[in-house]
Amino acid sequence: MGLEDLKEAAGRRAVDFVRSGMRVGLGTGSTARYAILEIGRRIAAGELANIVGVATSVESESLARECGIAIETLDARPLDLAIDGADEIAPHLDLVKGAGAALLREKLVALAAREFVVVADHTKLVGRLGEKRAVPVEIVRFGFESTLRRLAAFGAPELRRQNDAPVVTDNGNLIADLRFSTGDPAGLAGELKLTAGVVETGFFLGMAARALVAFPAEVRELRR
Ligand code: A5P
Repeated sequence: MGLEDLKEAAGRRAVDFVRSGMRVGLGTGSTARYAILEIGRRIAAGELANIVGVATSVESESLARECGIAIETLDARPLDLAIDGADEIAPHLDLVKGAGAALLREKLVALAAREFVVVADHTKLVGRLGEKRAVPVEIVRFGFESTLRRLAAFGAPELRRQNDAPVVTDNGNLIADLRFSTGDPAGLAGELKLTAGVVETGFFLGMAARALVAFPAEVRELRR
């Protein structure tokens, strides 16, 4: 079983938690994509009805529309469920997210949901956050170089680029990937939020209730 099969298994399994009539947060990335495809498949097959999706990115919104999922913006009404991927999953389901640059909308959607379910393959499991990945930090464009200098107080920040140009988020901001070594992600998250120029961080702490993690032999359900 290849990695892609594992992502598909985890993404599709999460849709077992979706019931007709639910408002569902639709995540971003290569694993959450399979959940969106599966919701679309079940709607087309008549297995689900009256589903409303709230997308965490422009990309997920257009995929969901292609799949026949009705889309609404995030508003005061709570979501029943949010399904999204992760870059690192630590014990107690603390996460690093944002490799797809969608972390701000992902956090807003996950916070609005009664339950946040993470979908991932087993390579995302870590003993502590920061073990494999930098934490993405969304920063405003204005004065971004001075913000990067401030971020250097917490680790090694690097402006994310693609094809030689800075990556711009769906919100018009930039991403700094911050390598860090502290074992206190909550403390770091708090300090980052107090740093001028920072909009949001990719730390999702104490938010996920459940993770569906695909191993070659099975999809395991982990609970916080
Ligand atoms: C998007 O910004 C991210 O938070 C993704 O949810 C995360 O990077 C997981 O993506 P994959 O499922 O593609 O690994």
